[in-house]
Amino acid sequence: MKSSINIILAPISELSFFLKNYPEKRIIVITDQNVDTFHSDKFSDFPKIVIDAGESQKNILQIEKIAEKLLELGADRTSVLVGIGGGVVCDICGFIASIFMRGIQFCYVPTTLLAQVDAAIGGKTGVNTSKIKNVLGTFNMPEFTLVDYSLLQTLAPQELINGMAEVVKHACISDESYFGFLENNYDKILAQDSFALTHTISKSIEIKKEIVEQDPEEKGLRKLLNYGHTFGHAIEKHYQITHGFAIAKGISIINKIALELGILTQENADRIYNLNQQIGLNPEIESIDIQELLPYITNDKKKTGAKISLVVVSSIGQSEVLNIPYIELEKIISTIWK
Ligand SMILES: NC(=O)c1ccc[n+]([C@@H]2O[C@H](COP(=O)([O-])OP(=O)(O)OC[C@H]3O[C@@H](n4cnc5c(N)ncnc54)[C@H](O)[C@@H]3O)[C@@H](O)[C@H]2O)c1
Repeated sequence: MKSSINIILAPISELSFFLKNYPEKRIIVITDQNVDTFHSDKFSDFPKIVIDAGESQKNILQIEKIAEKLLELGADRTSVLVGIGGGVVCDICGFIASIFMRGIQFCYVPTTLLAQVDAAIGGKTGVNTSKIKNVLGTFNMPEFTLVDYSLLQTLAPQELINGMAEVVKHACISDESYFGFLENNYDKILAQDSFALTHTISKSIEIKKEIVEQDPEEKGLRKLLNYGHTFGHAIEKHYQITHGFAIAKGISIINKIALELGILTQENADRIYNLNQQIGLNPEIESIDIQELLPYITNDKKKTGAKISLVVVSSIGQSEVLNIPYIELEKIISTIWK
């Protein structure tokens, strides 16, 4: 996979300009119903495939349906897919582009905060099976990702909050001063204050880009971006809650484990919890039954052999990967959650 990430900060009205190097008649948009309702006037030049909205669409049957629609639209190996939507559309678009006729070019126009700071950056694509998230997937970098902040204006407030989980993650794993900025400005970001929001998106993209370009296929450094995700993915699947809200709870769980291991201080754990709470991410974990999550975690692809990789934050802005025997993790969990 190529390792360079091409981010274009521009209004979506310039999409045709950035697609001018691709064969005009071969461009096909993939989007979802909500994005189509609000923004279809902005990509009316191109044929499109509109899927239902939501995580439940991220499955292999949907991929087959899209492949058939692509064939009906005359797609071939020279076609270029443009995923315009949130993380679900981007993950689906990138995955089908990776396998359709053994791989075609694709680009993203992310329309949620979560996709602008995370899902559309870094070349991970994938769909879920009925039990495990993203287990069918590829590493494949889009030609470019066009980020237009104004697309977020139609986003429901809960979806903006949802995206903030990945923003907090970026600050926790690598940048304490960014974390301080979020503590002081989260209300402005949620109100879509222009400076606060654009600074946040640019900063998060910068952090993710720097990590992924050094380790595009997650052999080492990139694993840090999985902070909160081992338990978060299990919560997302088991409790059927949206990605960001699940990751905030996943962060609370891993922080509790890091506290037990003496890696993280209570003061730093409280700062992270309080920020997630103030944002509205509901990071409490009293309602979560950790034992029920374990079957998802043993299947999680981050588990290699008898060991499991867990990302812990040691102080805000500093993180590391712990490779611990799975049996050890079970012991720690039963000590904390008796
Ligand atoms: N590939 C990666 O590296 C990566 C990273 C993080 C998350 N993800 C994946 O991203 C997915 C979550 O993404 P998401 O939170 O964007 O969810 P989503 O794509 O389901 O979008 C959330 C909701 O917002 C709607 N929407 C999107 N843009 C809108 C707009 N501009 N105005 C109004 N409504 C709009 C959608 O229709 C949907 O109902 C998960 O499947 C997660 O696994 C992938």
